Amino acid sequence: MDLNKPTTESYQKEFLTVIDFKQEHLLYNLERVRQYILTEFANKKEKAIIDINKLKPTSDPLLMKNEVHNTSIPFTDFTRHIQDKLTNVFHTKQFFMNVANDMINAAKMTPEETTNGKDNFSLVCNYKKRREDNIPCENLYDESTVKYLVSKTFKKSATDMYQLASSYPLPKYFPEKKTLKVACIGGGPGSDLTGLLTYLLECGYSSFECVIYDFNAVNWSKVSSGVLDGIIKKQAQKVFKRDVEISIRWEFADMKKDWENKESIPKADVFSNCWALNECSYNENFWNGLLENNTESVFLFVDGEVDPIQRFQYLEGIKGRKFVYEGLESPRRLAIFPSQTV
Ligand SMILES: C[S@@+](CC[C@H](N)C(=O)[O-])C[C@H]1O[C@@H](n2cnc3c(N)ncnc32)[C@H](O)[C@@H]1O
Repeated sequence: MDLNKPTTESYQKEFLTVIDFKQEHLLYNLERVRQYILTEFANKKEKAIIDINKLKPTSDPLLMKNEVHNTSIPFTDFTRHIQDKLTNVFHTKQFFMNVANDMINAAKMTPEETTNGKDNFSLVCNYKKRREDNIPCENLYDESTVKYLVSKTFKKSATDMYQLASSYPLPKYFPEKKTLKVACIGGGPGSDLTGLLTYLLECGYSSFECVIYDFNAVNWSKVSSGVLDGIIKKQAQKVFKRDVEISIRWEFADMKKDWENKESIPKADVFSNCWALNECSYNENFWNGLLENNTESVFLFVDGEVDPIQRFQYLEGIKGRKFVYEGLESPRRLAIFPSQTV
């Protein structure tokens, strides 16, 4: 027997050594990235503290607020970019991309529907004109507009909500739950729901009871009800390789109005509100009611406009709760957590 001649076993053994070697490399590189990010963070943090302390007190609170905002931009920019880079490592965002594509295919439009949807959507996006001409946004969502929005904004809203949700350790807030209750206020076709579910699936949850509360629940349910749940199940199998139990209902709600009574206020483990606050007048009682009826829940907000989202900090309902408002970049983001952090 030729001792120098490689055998099948020797090839196998060689590859097994490569596996071990690769694992070592991976661990080394993970540590290298960890060290690098932590050093960068420490540098930016130090600079941010020096810059903030350098600001001279002024008697004008608005001026001070603007100066603090401007000074904090490099730090907040840095943390957001790092967060996005870290999140990019996960292949699971393929889930909401696939769900969005399937939804777009399911909501096919005629040319007339496209034209009408496009015109209405331009008005929805024109905050200034709507405000000046006092145009109520909620009435713009006819059947063609809701289809048009699925094709134009589903992916973006799912991305925005995924990015926000995945920057927080959400499972810490509902560790024992098998089935999660998810509620999306002004949730439209289920786009922010899809982004949020992507992260919850990533965290290992597989059973969901979801309700979308929206002024146009009837029209949205015509495009999404009985469609989105099937697509989610199919894509969860494809991307996460597991079965998912999910129910999704659409219910009417009006963010401008007070709740009729305590019983009518929804309960959920996690609430999302994405690109919807800007569309109607801000009603404190609506949000206080929701927050006070859900003291153990997490609330996640994304919006283009500063005004409604920043008003949450003055609400009774957030007293004693943890509150993270990111108002410097677009979209604005806000997360509210229970007071008891596990
Ligand atoms: C731009 S869409 C966003 C939908 C979804 N959240 C997303 O990001 O794709 C705004 C949503 O807010 C809803 N909306 C507007 N005014 C509302 C109100 N007063 N109460 C409840 N929902 C409202 C609209 O019907 C619409 O579904």
